[in-house]
Amino acid sequence: MEIKRFKTKEEVTKALAEMLLAQVKAKPNSVLGLATGSTPTLAYHELVKDYLLNQTDYSKVVTFNLDEYVGIDSKDKNSYRTFMDINLFNYINIKNENTFLPNLNNVDDIDLSYYDEHINNCGGIDLQVLGIGENGHIGFNEPGDDMDSLTHRVILAENTRENNSIYFETIDDVPTEALTMGIQSILNAKKIVLAITKKTKAKIFKRLLEEEPSSSLPASYLKTHANVVVLVDAEAASLLEG
Ligand code: GLP
Repeated sequence: MEIKRFKTKEEVTKALAEMLLAQVKAKPNSVLGLATGSTPTLAYHELVKDYLLNQTDYSKVVTFNLDEYVGIDSKDKNSYRTFMDINLFNYINIKNENTFLPNLNNVDDIDLSYYDEHINNCGGIDLQVLGIGENGHIGFNEPGDDMDSLTHRVILAENTRENNSIYFETIDDVPTEALTMGIQSILNAKKIVLAITKKTKAKIFKRLLEEEPSSSLPASYLKTHANVVVLVDAEAASLLEG
């Protein structure tokens, strides 16, 4: 993993946006793996600003989101589909039919391998964006998940539901289950960028650097991938020496 340290979360999000822009400019038909959560949101807003200024072309870009809740409609204000629409897709010239999130429409609950097959059929993910949960989850791969998992249905950890409850009226409204690309789906990407910001991520970032790959810290499996860049701000790096 290549670690790039920045002072502020704004610098991290600018660097993330620059990586995405460079990818799309170098390969206009890029396949992007996208994440939700507060960390990449500002980067998506940078892409919107750039689009307004420079009309960067997304007409051939295909996107696959990491995850989606089970039990709320895609049109619900808290679905990850809505999140992507209102933070990015609605404001750039990406084609709606080229944007994918895992869903249960027309598929067996158990077998979500169609999602990985579709990613493969599109040529594989060129650049995968990731955030990290306080418990080390990536996508919704919670501690304990297998390294060789493809897209699957998961029960959310209580800590994840608590953290994500800020977007809901009460914690009881937070879904208990989700669909997520698996660790292997993520590791299949050609390049991965993990953005880590804020003090709340300092403990998990330190553990990520110190621990060997294991299921107790799903993000640690990124160490087995040859092309991972970690963008981190000073708050998230505050428990490191030097
Ligand atoms: C969510 C998402 C993850 C995201 C993480 C951190 O639960 N499923 O993809 O990386 O939590 O979110 P945030 O960036 O808001 O801290």
